Formats: sequence, C-alpha cells, structure tokens
Amino acid sequence: MKKVGIIGVGEYLPDRILTNAHLEKMVDTSDEWITTRTGIKERHIAAAGQAASDLGVLAAQQALHNAKMKAEDLELIVVATITGDMPFPSTAAIIQDKLGAKKAVCFDISAACAGFVYGISIAQQFISNGTYKNALVIGTEVLSSVTDWKDRNTCVLFGDGAGAAVLAEVPKGGIISTYLGCDGSKVGILNMPGGGSRNPATHATVDNRMHFLKMEGNELFKIAVNTMTRAAETVLKQANMTFADIDLIIPHQANSRIIMAVAKKLGIPEERVYLNIERCGNMSSASMVTALCEAVLEGKVKRGDTVLLDVFGAGLVWGACIIEW
Ligand code: UT7
Repeated sequence: MKKVGIIGVGEYLPDRILTNAHLEKMVDTSDEWITTRTGIKERHIAAAGQAASDLGVLAAQQALHNAKMKAEDLELIVVATITGDMPFPSTAAIIQDKLGAKKAVCFDISAACAGFVYGISIAQQFISNGTYKNALVIGTEVLSSVTDWKDRNTCVLFGDGAGAAVLAEVPKGGIISTYLGCDGSKVGILNMPGGGSRNPATHATVDNRMHFLKMEGNELFKIAVNTMTRAAETVLKQANMTFADIDLIIPHQANSRIIMAVAKKLGIPEERVYLNIERCGNMSSASMVTALCEAVLEGKVKRGDTVLLDVFGAGLVWGACIIEW
C-alpha cells in the first residue's frame, strides 16, 4: 500500500464578519454569554448569492497552488458539506467545472462536522490502493443559509467558510492512522428536518421553520466530550502511539469548553491544542480543514510534526486521524 499525505492546503473565509455585538441587536443574547459559553467572538458570513461551491473553489485554488498542482491533473474530488449548492447534483461536480478539473471523478459526502476526516479517509483508500494518483478533499459550508436567525440557542454558534487539501502519495510519513464511527440512534439531537424526502418543502414546512438546523446543545455537549476523548485515544492506540508523540491536536471547533474538557481528559496542555473558533465559530465540515490550513500557514505544523485531528458532529458521527506532516 502506498503512503498518502496532504501536499497542499487552502482556505477561504467570506469577507463579511458578524460579531457578537451584531448578534446582540438580533436576538436576546450578550457578548459575555457567547464568549464564556462558546469561546466565539465573531464568524464569517457568505455574501448574498455566494454558495458552498463558490467558497470551496477559492479554497481549492489555494490548496492546488500550495501543492504546485494543476486542476486538470486532479483525479478525484470529494466535497464534504451539509449545505451544498442544491440537493443534487453534487457540489463536487459544480466545483469540478469551475476548477476545470475535467479528469476528476466527483462526489459529495454527508458527514457533517466529521466530513473532512471522513473525506481524507476515503481519498486515502483510493490513492493507497492505486486507483487514483491524487485527490482534492474540500470542506465547505454556508451554514448561514440553514441558521434560524431568530433562535438564540443556535444562531450565535455557526459561520461560513471553506478549506481544501490535496492528497497524493508521499515518500514518508503522511496519514498514519484513521478511525471513524457513527451512532445513528441520535439523529434527532442535531438535524435539519425539512427539505428532504421525509418532509419535502411545503408552505407548512417553511411556516414551521423546518428548513433550519435544530440542535439539543446541552445533550450534544456531554456526548461530544466523551466521544472526542475516546476517538483520540482509539486512533493513538491503533497507531501504537501516545500523546507524547503528538505535536499538535486539532479538534472540531464547536465550543471551546468542549475542546478544553477533551484536552483536560486527555492530559494535553492548552498550547498543544489549535483553535480558530474565536474568529470563525462552528463551520461544520469546514472547521477542521480551515484550522489545519491556518496551523500550517502559521508555522504551527512543520515538516516532520505529527498532528492529531479529532472530529464529532451530526449523525452522530466522529473520527480521528494522525498525520505526520
Ligand atoms: O458541531 C456539532 C456538534 N455541536 C456541538 O457539539 C454543540 C454542543 N453544545 C454546545 O456547545 C452548548 O450546549 C451550547 C453553546 C449550545 C449551549 O451552552 P450550554 O452551556 O449547554 O447552555 P444551555 O443550553 O444549558 O442553556 C443555558 C441557558 C438557557 O437558559 P435557562 O433555561 O437556563 O434560563 C438558555 O436559554 O442559556 C440560555 N441561552 C442563551 N442565553 C443567552 C441559550 N442560548 C443563549 C444565548 N444567549 N445565545
């Protein structure tokens, strides 16, 4: 089996910034509540008419540039998103056309906040078994399009953005170990009930606000802490490693209190945990890949370093991955 690594990363965050002060004018909330309960200060919001493919293509172009690769050489595009341009066709197909990646096989995956780790795991299989030479994995979300701006329980949490990674065979290091999981019995605690075949769009689904995401935050919080802790421990065990071998842990950015509770349980000091939640909020599938991209561009992940990615989200789904950079 070939060794597979990430050879280039990129991100795009929309220009418009929504601060906690803006939200104070929209719902009954406060900067103090949002900051202390979530760690979020601001988030980026897509412009009117800007869809997931528009964000994704800009992130992809940066990742291709950093990987020194041309779009026409891409063989696979996997897009992780829960806010694709439309229910079908795939956002990956739309991005293929915008990039001019004519050769690439394309599909989307629905694994919510765990989407990027699911995506690189799929891409890794295709490259390591020799089916494709390379792959572009994108996490892109316009969560503002499914956010209920009247619901203070959820509207303060999310943001829009995109990140991308180019994967290819590497001579050494690369993806060392990946672990994925799912518990479909808890679909009800984080979902968007309207718009699918269960509740197709009608006036009633719109009136009942069913085209917005719904979340039982408190219940999720506890599950997230335990699941992310277990996922990190499992992937380390699989790799026969310990936390002493990890230079940086990049967790899903849902809530800084979740992240710090996981770090505490795992005995990892705060300085070895990467956060971009303060500036970006929770961007679902885009959170992990933008955080990874920023950590690399800021020099916090250097060649030879070992990083641990740890994700959790709607499904419920989770995953963890160890990469030698
Ligand atoms: O990315 C996928 C996975 N997502 C997650 O893992 C999210 C997990 N959950 C969370 O991050 C947290 O549960 C939240 C940030 C969503 C909520 O924090 P919490 O500490 O669990 O608060 P809570 O839901 O227990 O609510 C506490 C209080 C309630 O008031 P009462 O009933 O105690 O009077 C809420 O109504 O805070 C109130 N509240 C707010 N107050 C001001 C909820 N949202 C707000 C708000 N501003 N925006």
